[in-house]
Amino acid sequence: MTQYFATVAKGLEFIAAQELERLGAHDVRPDFAGVHFTGSRKLLYRVNLWGRTLFRVLVPIAEFPCANAQQLYQEVQNIDWTEYLSPLNTFAVNCTGKNEALNHSHFTALQVKNAIIDQQRLEFGERSNIDIDHPDLWINLHIHENQAILSLDSSGTSLHRRGYRPAVGLAPLKESLAAALLDMAEWNPNLPFLDPLCGSGTLPIEASLKALNIAPGLFRESFGFMKWKDFDAKLWDSLKQEALEAQLTTLSAPILGSDQDGDIVNQAYENAQRCGVSEQIQLQQLELSQIEPPTSHGIIICNPPYGERLGNIEELAPLYKQLGDIFKQRFKGWTAYILTGNKTLGKQVGLRTSRRIAVNNGALPCTLLKYELY
Ligand SMILES: C[S@@+](CC[C@H](N)C(=O)[O-])C[C@H]1O[C@@H](n2cnc3c(N)ncnc32)[C@H](O)[C@@H]1O
Repeated sequence: MTQYFATVAKGLEFIAAQELERLGAHDVRPDFAGVHFTGSRKLLYRVNLWGRTLFRVLVPIAEFPCANAQQLYQEVQNIDWTEYLSPLNTFAVNCTGKNEALNHSHFTALQVKNAIIDQQRLEFGERSNIDIDHPDLWINLHIHENQAILSLDSSGTSLHRRGYRPAVGLAPLKESLAAALLDMAEWNPNLPFLDPLCGSGTLPIEASLKALNIAPGLFRESFGFMKWKDFDAKLWDSLKQEALEAQLTTLSAPILGSDQDGDIVNQAYENAQRCGVSEQIQLQQLELSQIEPPTSHGIIICNPPYGERLGNIEELAPLYKQLGDIFKQRFKGWTAYILTGNKTLGKQVGLRTSRRIAVNNGALPCTLLKYELY
């Protein structure tokens, strides 16, 4: 059993922990902005392939005291890097956290880099090159107070970058947050789903991927672990094959998305096409006032603009009021959720919330407001 740490957005630790348990992880323990778990190499690959709410899966290789640059350099040199890297391989170092002496991530990363290449020079007379975009080895250093954890990053680029969304609307949700909102709303594939402000389609697309049991990692070309010395290509291919065979082709309940902006709906459609769900989800250009419930019950999740990135508060207040009025008048039997980063706007909805869940949307603290409509 190996120790792993999945990094996640702040506030999603418990949702991510539940997801990891469903994927077969052991000793699952949520922590700040991440979840510890243990498991086999097969589990590591499976979590990268299937994880919907995670950013990265790190494999810690060393933990040491790290009060200053000298100590960091020395501790990194104590690791035998030939196990992970030859001078022919490139690498990149990403640092998170800080302490008093190590408070600039570039400077901190430089100490790690120097310690590794100095060891290589001594041993082989040559050194690895740095490649920050497509390195062979992604190294992560996390500093907390005077302690550091050095890990290999098995994911490489963040897992929220599924690869199906080069086309994005004006203020898209991260795919991992959209997947987590579906879990928070306790949506399941047997419930109809609607996002009447769908933008680039992230919520309906993530719902469809879940409903059709499509592994989000199937759209990515590479993961950090693929360049590791111990990469088991046969195991990885068998997991991908299993995932392809487990896909479904029909939805059990309708999934709909609409937006007033025709160009953005076209983008959403292209994104849906790229992950093979455009035939199953219904996307259309529709002004909010034209929305009608497609069924007698279901789940609405939407994130209206909240003044931070799009529009301003006075202009947006009528939209929030309109959402509340339409929910109340037309959507009896449904449960609706609004993600907003602005309390004043949230109040304009004018309906009583049955739950408020704190969620971060990137750096913005937001609230997921729940409304039972009857
Ligand atoms: C913050 S964006 C949603 C982003 C989306 N969740 C995504 O991941 O791409 C809000 C969307 O609401 C749409 N919108 C604003 N007012 C609307 C209205 N009255 N009727 C329909 N759509 C509207 C905008 O066009 C915009 O795409």
